Amino acid sequence: MARATVVVVGGGGREHALCLALGASSHVGSLHCVPGNAGTAHLATNHHISGGLDELVRLCIEVGADLVVVGPEAPLCDGLADACEAHGLPCFGPVAALAHLEGSKLHAKQTMDRAGVPTAAYQRLDADSDIDAALDAFANAPWVVKRDVLAGGKGVVVTEDRAEASAFIQSSIESDGFVLLEAFLPGEEASMLVVMDGTAFRTLPASQDHKRAYDGDLGPNTGGMGAYCPAPVVSDEVHAKILERIVEPMHAHLSSQATPYRGVLFIGLMIDEHGDPYVVEFNVRFGDPECQVTLPLIKTDVFSLLHAAATDGLQEVQLEVHPATAVTVVLASEGYPASPVKGRPIGGLDEATEASTYGETWVNFAGVGSDESGYLATGGRVLSCTAMGDDLKTTQVKAYALMESLKLEGGHFRSDIAYRAIR
Ligand code: AMP
Ligand code: GLY
Repeated sequence: MARATVVVVGGGGREHALCLALGASSHVGSLHCVPGNAGTAHLATNHHISGGLDELVRLCIEVGADLVVVGPEAPLCDGLADACEAHGLPCFGPVAALAHLEGSKLHAKQTMDRAGVPTAAYQRLDADSDIDAALDAFANAPWVVKRDVLAGGKGVVVTEDRAEASAFIQSSIESDGFVLLEAFLPGEEASMLVVMDGTAFRTLPASQDHKRAYDGDLGPNTGGMGAYCPAPVVSDEVHAKILERIVEPMHAHLSSQATPYRGVLFIGLMIDEHGDPYVVEFNVRFGDPECQVTLPLIKTDVFSLLHAAATDGLQEVQLEVHPATAVTVVLASEGYPASPVKGRPIGGLDEATEASTYGETWVNFAGVGSDESGYLATGGRVLSCTAMGDDLKTTQVKAYALMESLKLEGGHFRSDIAYRAIR
């Protein structure tokens, strides 16, 4: 193929990471991002569109896309991959019927039950259910209540407060018609990204996200405050169990559909004290910020990997991984996650972005915009400082040194990213 044109859909830190990885490929001639951010603007042509999927597909056709890479789940659940397929555009990201694995937690549970994949026991509750009896049945551990909607991480409550669990169940039933109550899984979380198509799957190195806002895994849930890769909790032995019990049955199911799953399946895992893995959730996209620490460790050309998966050619691609580590630390705006303060200037970025390609350290832009005065924070998660190196401890130190060189009034970040792996 002549050098390829690629369209990346999305505008966060994950999409900046995708643009960095795709921009580093000798197969990519031109890169577009919709809508992108001030970081992707260094690497790609950003496009702002006001319409829906039709306009997005039209843009992909206009620029002559050889590959569409979809960052977030919402356009996939809305049918972007279906629309691409109808126009003969290779799309990295599953069709809506399969994106439903993330769009509906009940559907994910039913799929896992059928495929025999280990996950927490659950009960579906609606207006006719006896909520007190259900709360009794799942007592002796925190209650885990999940809404069956895409809620950007706000649809799950894990609490030891019975009144809070009960209130969330009732309000969810009122708004959605039903809700899931599930058993609490003890253990350590890990994220596994599996690139797949109808012919094969390739597991990327496992990573670990830090979802709580404050050090020591305290405070409210967020989209993710930092991540590192690889995560030692996924030892070779645990990896083998994940493959056999989760990845192989899920791939068998997903590759046998009318349109096979073409994209990345993100498996949110809980690893218990015996090293047994359970699925907490499926996402149908790269994790954010897991993507920022996983892609740089991929030695295989990332365009070739994603294009192969979009075109059922994965069987021909071998995955090679750098024997290195990566750490990313998220800088969040004051008030994140409840009510982030936006519009404040970010200092130090000009110097830091001089090295906005893979090196020892770089910045992944997320909620960053710019005006004539310079860079501004435009979102809750503003950016993340990423470092790559031989061992996690020195990599962590380098990521924090980069963070210390930046300035954002009221901005906050966790100071313990990767602590579980560095004791
Ligand atoms: P989810 O949106 O399903 O990933 O849930 C958000 C977070 O809630 C997860 O990352 C876990 O930290 C926690 N969580 C979800 N389900 C469970 C469970 N069954 N047991 C323990 N923690 C859970
Ligand atoms: N970092 C978790 C997610 O992307 O859902």
